[in-house]
Amino acid sequence: MRTLSDLIAEGVSGRYVLVRADLNVPLDGGSISDDGRIRASLPTLRRLAEAGARVVVLSHLGRPAGKPDPAFSLAPVAVRIGELLGAEIPLADDVVDASARAVVGAMGDGDVALLQNVRFDPRETSKDAGERGALADDLVALAGSGAAFVSDGFGVVHRKQASVYDVATRLPHYAGGLVLAELSVLRTLTSDTARPYVVVLGGAKVSDKLGVIANLLTEVDRLLIGGGMAYTFLRARGHEVGRSLLQADQLDHVESVMAEAERRGIDLILPVDVLAAKEFAADADYEVVAADAIPADRQGLDIGPRTRELFAAKLADAATVFWNGPMGVFEFDAFSGGTRVVAEALAAAEGFTVVGGGDSAAAVRRLGIDESRFSHISTGGGASLEFLEGKDLPGVTVLED
Ligand code: 3PG
Repeated sequence: MRTLSDLIAEGVSGRYVLVRADLNVPLDGGSISDDGRIRASLPTLRRLAEAGARVVVLSHLGRPAGKPDPAFSLAPVAVRIGELLGAEIPLADDVVDASARAVVGAMGDGDVALLQNVRFDPRETSKDAGERGALADDLVALAGSGAAFVSDGFGVVHRKQASVYDVATRLPHYAGGLVLAELSVLRTLTSDTARPYVVVLGGAKVSDKLGVIANLLTEVDRLLIGGGMAYTFLRARGHEVGRSLLQADQLDHVESVMAEAERRGIDLILPVDVLAAKEFAADADYEVVAADAIPADRQGLDIGPRTRELFAAKLADAATVFWNGPMGVFEFDAFSGGTRVVAEALAAAEGFTVVGGGDSAAAVRRLGIDESRFSHISTGGGASLEFLEGKDLPGVTVLED
């Protein structure tokens, strides 16, 4: 796999370089609530700009319906990149049309510019290879002869989309530093992993995590399950879970995962107590109840104090930890305590600690925990999980030839 360093060694001064970044950041009323992905994208942009490339950045934001939608404009992202790079960053109004041509045409050596949200063009996410290819051709034409492609949007490498996959088949392609760093960390989680190896999973949907669990059962020593997904496990153990989240159609699957964990001697730990509320609200009244005695009219919104202690103890001596998914509804202060305890336990552990992207990365930042206390905070929620599930990542495979 050729890398950004190879490209820079070849010489990029005066060349257009298309960089696929993942600048899909959460927005709250139009302002960015977590700029982690933007900050993680900067080293590659800086290196290329300093080497004199004309850096054209491609990204999606959210899931617009294949047409321009101001709610998903990259405008706040362009402003934030400009603040962090200390330069004004032009943003085209479209993806490959007149505005994109004008912005790209006006660039000088060492400039960085952004095209508008690539998902404003329906061809970006098309299942039809011909349609995606036509968009890729338009992107390549914008960049002209001598152009190169750098894939640095780790969070989107699991998507076979025009700006992730098809452009790479048409231009000399290179893996950016972020993609390389993320892959290297994930590889350490899947082979010759230092033990004890503890995986902590949470989040709402058990169906999102079963593939990862199945694939990691050959590796891990302990599996701690919290968050909304824990209630399907508790139900599979025969407990009533009241009005808690439950994916009844996954019960068989969960039962077989638990049986396999037992067969392999893996310590699979479920909550022993929960904060059970009568409604899903930030100020909901709640009580601490045993996990096998959740009242019929209540729902679990966080792991309870005994579970927090248990999880922290199971993390204390870990040599490797992977954590994905909050332990409760961390967006509500009253139900953020379990997630905080897990985040603090990872931060305090001396082993190699990896926070999966998405909500867990957002939780670390929202809870104000110093990011440098973790070995790695991934920028890719879905992409990390698909890697750990053993799935092919099209945006990585395409870089390998
Ligand atoms: C993410 O947020 O996981 C990535 O940006 C990919 O976004 P997507 O799930 O909308 O493809």
